[in-house]
Amino acid sequence: MLIRYEAPDDFDAIHDLTSTAFKPMPYSNGTEAEIIRRLRAAGDLTISLVVEEGGEILGHVAFSPVTIDGAHGGWFGLGPISVKPERQRQGIGMALITKGLELLNAMGASGCALIGNPDIYSRVGFSSDGQLKYLDLDTRLVQRIVFRGSPPGGTLQFAPAFEG
Ligand SMILES: CC(C)(COP(=O)(O)OP(=O)(O)OC[C@H]1O[C@@H](n2cnc3c(N)ncnc32)[C@H](O)[C@@H]1OP(=O)(O)O)[C@@H](O)C(=O)NCCC(=O)NCCS
Repeated sequence: MLIRYEAPDDFDAIHDLTSTAFKPMPYSNGTEAEIIRRLRAAGDLTISLVVEEGGEILGHVAFSPVTIDGAHGGWFGLGPISVKPERQRQGIGMALITKGLELLNAMGASGCALIGNPDIYSRVGFSSDGQLKYLDLDTRLVQRIVFRGSPPGGTLQFAPAFEG
């Protein structure tokens, strides 16, 4: 199993994988695959990693710039992330996240934020202190990992590609 940056030949496989992985999820609005295409087109796909095995793409994660109270401040957002349904719960998702966080940290990023299930993302160091907000969501779902600087507070906003 190899984790590497996306290449143009992967774009369709990433799209299909993302659609398939999100389809059964109650919180999905069916736009996640398209968000990745829009991030790429806007130059906002800062890091896009795939897991490949025997020529097949088994997982994908995207990182893009975010703002907190309107300022970028070196912060990035994680997502969408997908693992092929038959290969979930085997550590692929966490391996992708760990690699992506390493790369972001090495770039000098301040930190990374996401919206998601704390049971999943606390495993790789994400947490919430209630200071980061997103719409009217429970702040426990709005998690971040700080690489440098102080823990951020304020309203998190994702790249325009997430708005449609
Ligand atoms: C979320 C997702 C990317 C996780 O990838 P994964 O490869 O299955 O995750 P891992 O195997 O690395 O998970 C590690 C741990 O996270 C937790 N976890 C993973 N998926 C979980 C789930 N659906 N519910 C609760 N905990 C989960 C578990 O604690 C798991 O460890 P365990 O299997 O030892 O209990 C994958 O399930 C997926 O593609 N889901 C559909 C798309 C999606 O919902 N994306 C995220 C939106 S926030």
